[in-house]
Amino acid sequence: MFYFLLRQRVYSGDLFAVFSETVEMDQMKQEPHPVDLLQETEEVFASPVAQGLFHSRFDDSTRYCHARAVAFMHKGKNFMSIADIRTDYAQADLSETDAAADPVTQFAKWFDEALHAEVPEPNAMGVSTVGENGRPSSRIVLIKDFDERGFTWFTNYGSRKGRELEKNPYAALLFHWIVLEREVRIEGRVERVSAEESEQYFQSRPLKSRLSAIASVQSAPIEDRAALEAQYAKAEEQHGDSAPRPQHWGGYRLKPEYVEFWQGRRSRLHDRIAYTLEKDGQWKRQRLQP
Ligand SMILES: Cc1cc2nc3c(=O)[nH]c(=O)nc-3n(C[C@H](O)[C@H](O)[C@H](O)COP(=O)(O)O)c2cc1C
Repeated sequence: MFYFLLRQRVYSGDLFAVFSETVEMDQMKQEPHPVDLLQETEEVFASPVAQGLFHSRFDDSTRYCHARAVAFMHKGKNFMSIADIRTDYAQADLSETDAAADPVTQFAKWFDEALHAEVPEPNAMGVSTVGENGRPSSRIVLIKDFDERGFTWFTNYGSRKGRELEKNPYAALLFHWIVLEREVRIEGRVERVSAEESEQYFQSRPLKSRLSAIASVQSAPIEDRAALEAQYAKAEEQHGDSAPRPQHWGGYRLKPEYVEFWQGRRSRLHDRIAYTLEKDGQWKRQRLQP
């Protein structure tokens, strides 16, 4: 049986727990299941590693099995301080010569790379809006389309973000593709997409998602889960399989005026290439300091 944490070291900011027992190759063919690793760590620390994330890796060359532990908290007290969590970024770089002349082309390239890298939910992005009181608020939505006209997502026009956008049609979008050590920031003016476009997308959604959109008065308080489910049941009873798009549900498209691409580099000396839309409609590209 494996045991580990005979030795631990901080490497690249991650805590590495190392199996230091050399085990015969054929015994190591089978990787320990992350749950077993978790249990073993708990035994070693005599405390449950509550929030630990585990990846185990079989390393042919060293005949060691390494368990990479990002176990920064365990129940009750700090296992490693939050301030000590740091990753050095070293996967790629972004230069002025690599970056496309326009940000939509550059975004398409990075989005494609995020898809190929199997980034979880690469289409999830932060959307920040500003309320009448001048205060920003953010939430995640899913991008459904992008092209030279802008970046599109769908939502309830009566939601908090919807109401804020109707009053102040400027927003900021944010992608974080952590696996690729990349961030993209997009800012600009937001418009509703056409009713036809909203209709087309709404009808492409699964029936139950359409019924949920009908049933939910997004952002409004509700008494409890049972009340929400009752609203869903009512929508189902009323619309059956048809589930038409409610008028207050549709798409927004942000037309970019500023787009920034951030690539993590070693020792925090990151690459940032920013595109700003000039009055003549041309994109100006600049490198920003990290
Ligand atoms: C991964 C993920 C994807 C989401 N996608 C959407 C979406 O496409 N549209 C949407 O309205 N809300 C989406 N949400 C929910 C929003 O984050 C948010 O709760 C909701 O839009 C209400 O926000 P608001 O009250 O600020 O308007 C998503 C949440 C997550 C975590």
